[in-house]
Amino acid sequence: MNICLIGLPGAGKSTLGRRLANSLDRPFVDSDHEIEQRIGCTIREFFEQQGEDAFRDVEEATITELTGRPGPWVLSTGGGSVLRPGTRLRLHDAAHVVYLCVQPAELAQRLRHDRRRPLLQGVDPLERLQALFDERDAFYRETAHTIIQTSDWRLPALVEHLATSLTA
Ligand code: S3P
Repeated sequence: MNICLIGLPGAGKSTLGRRLANSLDRPFVDSDHEIEQRIGCTIREFFEQQGEDAFRDVEEATITELTGRPGPWVLSTGGGSVLRPGTRLRLHDAAHVVYLCVQPAELAQRLRHDRRRPLLQGVDPLERLQALFDERDAFYRETAHTIIQTSDWRLPALVEHLATSLTA
């Protein structure tokens, strides 16, 4: 079964995804990394030059392509991948989707020095992350098959738990 990780920026999707893929000996793909290969610049630069809508178009096309690849794989997505209904459906159908749920206050603490994420620049991170949570939590829940409150877990135990429960 393919596995996909979703959740807000800073939830740990890439770190967990890489470790999970390693532990299961599967290919790991990070959709943001794939997008940067395609656009030839950083996501922050692309947002500044082309705007968010153009980014969402590339994100949707990239996820369509990635979820069509032969599996089993582990895919980590960007936090906004659930914004488009078609992408939510595609992820839900293509993989066992795990929502890494983290409270905005904890994310703001983790991301307080972030310079990479365009949506967090020049704003109060807590306010923005709270707004993203309010907008997206229902989308993450609708897309997911499993919801994990990551504060209940240490990383190695979570990797082990998912590796065992999703391949049983
Ligand atoms: C975004 C999250 C980012 C990246 C882009 C937009 C978002 O990925 O896709 O900056 O809309 O939440 P991470 O979730 O890995 O930070």
